Amino acid sequence: MAQLATTAGAEVVGGVSQRVVRPQRSYLGKGKLEELADLADRHQASVVMLNDELTPAQQRIVEDAVQVKVIDRTALILDIFAGRALTKEGRLQVELAQHEYLLPRLAGQWSHLERLGGGIGTRGPGETQIETDRRLVRGRIQHIERELEKVMRRRAQYTERRKKSTVPIASLVGYTNAGKSTLFNALSSGGVLVQDQLFSTLDPVTRRVRLPSGAPLLLTDTVGFIQKLSPTVVAAFRATLEELSQSDILLHVVDITHPKAAEQAQVVEDILDDLGLAEKPRVLVANKMDLIKDDAGAPSIPDLDPGRSVKISAAKGWNLDQLLQRIETTLMNVDGPLTFVSTTTGS
Ligand code: GTP
Repeated sequence: MAQLATTAGAEVVGGVSQRVVRPQRSYLGKGKLEELADLADRHQASVVMLNDELTPAQQRIVEDAVQVKVIDRTALILDIFAGRALTKEGRLQVELAQHEYLLPRLAGQWSHLERLGGGIGTRGPGETQIETDRRLVRGRIQHIERELEKVMRRRAQYTERRKKSTVPIASLVGYTNAGKSTLFNALSSGGVLVQDQLFSTLDPVTRRVRLPSGAPLLLTDTVGFIQKLSPTVVAAFRATLEELSQSDILLHVVDITHPKAAEQAQVVEDILDDLGLAEKPRVLVANKMDLIKDDAGAPSIPDLDPGRSVKISAAKGWNLDQLLQRIETTLMNVDGPLTFVSTTTGS
């Protein structure tokens, strides 16, 4: 949570924790809420962040207690995404999720503005500010949905074209910060890049890579996973995550040096499961091996098939050939020998 807060640009000045078995009306217990208010006051905190998704009512009660802005885990993650989404599709997805998140919370945010009457032509007699705001937000949501649909239709056309090309697609998945983008760049620029082929300017980015046999592979980088992804956040990236179902193989990148590597790998596997991708062929990529001094010191990844993992360092470019070989073998085992069209001979 502290890492997320820092990522969003906040400076963490303190924290309290409580095991919340069954969240109360005020989310936290009364005593804990007082402790939190006192802590926020002592440190003159400008914002309080909670490591869970709160209902709008809970958020308002906590806000009343601490007297500063309250941000829950969902709003925080969406805020980080908003700052990072570069492509039109990414931005639309985040904006949609933010508006949907905002809608039930408007009453709290604007209660001080509530009044009768309204602007000419925009509101009916007796309509409140909240209703106007809700209508504006709903209108915006519809607009974004239409835009997103257009973008997704274009993507579907690209995907169709890609499927016809018989070139297999590999998607990088993994916990945030596992090293997916580093691996993506290492594989697609370290001499293996055939052509910098972005299918479009949309997320996720796809490039062409050459397998050891000379056959081409399309490699796709996707959004990083994180623990406790709320349905709002998953919905925000549904389109991007759906792209994974088009892949022939998933490369699950794990930061092997992280103390919670096994837990993070499990989070990713669970999300893949939720997306109905449990059966997708995959290669487990144990990354950042350059930081492991002695092989015996590497944290093990229980419950995941060690026979399918390849140890690499994306930063140092270690073992990438072996990884590509494993991808090729896995693809061949799934589909039988692939009949690739070689791009060098043109046949
Ligand atoms: P998200 O975009 O958050 O999902 O992260 P990501 O999985 O794309 O990770 P990214 O490639 O941005 O790498 C995260 C950090 O790990 C960066 O600081 C990289 O420099 C570092 N890193 C990646 N691969 C390696 C590696 O093999 N060795 C070492 N030492 N550092 C690495």
